[in-house]
Amino acid sequence: MADNKRPESMVRITTPELAQAFIDEQIAALRAQIGERKVLLALSGGVDSSVVAALLIKAVGKQLVCVHVNHGLLRKGEPEQVVEVFRNQMDANLVYVDAVDRFLDKLAGVAEPEAKRKVIGAEFIRVFEEEARKQDGIEFLAQGTIYPDIIESGPVKAHHNVGGLPEDLQFELVEPVKFLFKDEVRVVGKALGLPDNMVFRQPFPGPGLGVRCLGAITRDRLEALRESDAILREEFDNAGLTGKVWQFFTVVPDFRSTGVKNNLRAYDWPVIIRAVNTVDAMTATVPELPWSVLEKITQRILSEVDGVCRVLYDLSPKPVATIEWE
Ligand code: XMP
Repeated sequence: MADNKRPESMVRITTPELAQAFIDEQIAALRAQIGERKVLLALSGGVDSSVVAALLIKAVGKQLVCVHVNHGLLRKGEPEQVVEVFRNQMDANLVYVDAVDRFLDKLAGVAEPEAKRKVIGAEFIRVFEEEARKQDGIEFLAQGTIYPDIIESGPVKAHHNVGGLPEDLQFELVEPVKFLFKDEVRVVGKALGLPDNMVFRQPFPGPGLGVRCLGAITRDRLEALRESDAILREEFDNAGLTGKVWQFFTVVPDFRSTGVKNNLRAYDWPVIIRAVNTVDAMTATVPELPWSVLEKITQRILSEVDGVCRVLYDLSPKPVATIEWE
């Protein structure tokens, strides 16, 4: 485990200059490790994998093959942004896999939260493995492991799900940010020119919207969730709350309640707003949001999102409630 301990001589990366020195050093190290060979990376669009992708693009260009799996549980606009930033702007070798139907078919009728997580994780490995087999001559697997992943959960980043690749697909690992803390990854990401909404993104669980569309996922409720979440994020941006509130999202439960639409009785879903502040996600408090912002979000969700007739704000701190609903 000696090579999994952050060197004591390593300074904390807090400025663009320190980030640039780290980037230069890593580019040289990556070129020395990889040479002319090929590297595979599961690129989710999260901060860590995006920073690793940007570093590798600078170091070895098209020898990096990025695989972006759209499992249908990403937030609105995320898959498009991955394609725009990495393929169009950075000219990366990016394989975009539309696996939406595959994931949603596998998840149909699966209601238990841990079972849903398992289905999503297992299907991710399967899709990624299929893509890996289509590529010739890959020798390395890059991962966005960061230092807290090593300290907290051993060397393999759990939500990248690559621990489960079969024997004949064992690659040498490339983990250029494994000694960095999250705030340092963000400083490096900024210095690499990644967009702010990618670099300063709030935490997003590996199973994505899958654990926010409660119970057995259906396509219509998933769409209501994605649209309401997009409205929430837009209105948090407009109110200057993004970056001030640690994590915020919507949740759509698997029950309906009554409403009135166009003078007719409706039987539609509620949308729950969840917003929390925390340091380490072990405990969390609920911020006092301006009433006008809550009203605006409510009014927009009720008028713009199909199948919704009620909006609620979850006031429960952690503990007793967890941050996610599942
Ligand atoms: P809870 O709900 O346990 O969440 O209070 C604490 C933090 O962890 C995130 N979370 C997950 N992240 N895979 C992940 O990668 C998961 O299955 C998962 N479940 C919860 C959650 O978003 C919060 O930031």
